Amino acid sequence: MRVDIVTIFPEYLEPLNVSLVGKARARGDLDVRVHDLRAWTHDRHHTVDDTPYGGGPGMVMKPEPWGEALDAVLAAGGPSGGADGPGRGDGARQGGSEGSEGPCEPVLVVPTPSGRPFTQELAVELSGKPWLVFTPARYEGIDRRVIEEYATRADVREVSIGDYVLAGGEAPVLVMVEAVARLLPGVLGNAESHRDDSFAPGAMARLLEGPVYTKPPEWRGRGIPEVLVSGHHGRIARWRRDQALARTAANRPDLVEQCAPEELDQHDRAT
Ligand code: ADE
Repeated sequence: MRVDIVTIFPEYLEPLNVSLVGKARARGDLDVRVHDLRAWTHDRHHTVDDTPYGGGPGMVMKPEPWGEALDAVLAAGGPSGGADGPGRGDGARQGGSEGSEGPCEPVLVVPTPSGRPFTQELAVELSGKPWLVFTPARYEGIDRRVIEEYATRADVREVSIGDYVLAGGEAPVLVMVEAVARLLPGVLGNAESHRDDSFAPGAMARLLEGPVYTKPPEWRGRGIPEVLVSGHHGRIARWRRDQALARTAANRPDLVEQCAPEELDQHDRAT
């Protein structure tokens, strides 16, 4: 998968060199290129913002640098393209997995608190795409005409990571890239690891994961639930589901309410 990120704070994206995402990049499963938006400004101060039409507080990101930056990034042709443009592209290696036959339509992910919620379902959908382009904004956001312009050339998704307002879209990009990258084939050591994730589709759909334990069997006088060492897979599965349901009811009653009646069995209802 190819990921381009255009930002005025390239250094904010440095955590993408660490841990799971960093390893996926080093292995070549993920080709991440970070571009400095200011490289596409032409004035002495590298201006990227201006006052809003209609008045009001804050500043709005100017369309011209975004237009030049996105033209250059999109012209590079995605997974098969090599150019980093004048941005500080730091992706040294080439090529993604899918789409390496030629240019393909990118998904342009625009982080904004006004967007649609970022969910596990969207992470799964994005993990199947060959090319994602992220446009994290600062200030009050990007001039609307930029979004309209690129909707004609890309699959544009305005996405919010939660009902709170951050200082910019870079932290949401870190969140989204990690959520997507861990779903790529070969990225998690154990392919089963995300089967039981909270929010994963399947038998535990819409239930939060319950508690987990590891060795030692006793720590500071606290033992572990006996059932987990019973060797009885059926009882363990039942216990896990009961725990998941109890935790979901306590922390996210809205999710339990969304469960269709057929998703709950008799034992669930009694829990
Ligand atoms: N930018 C600022 N706040 C945001 C949020 N909650 N989600 C996505 N982008 C943002």
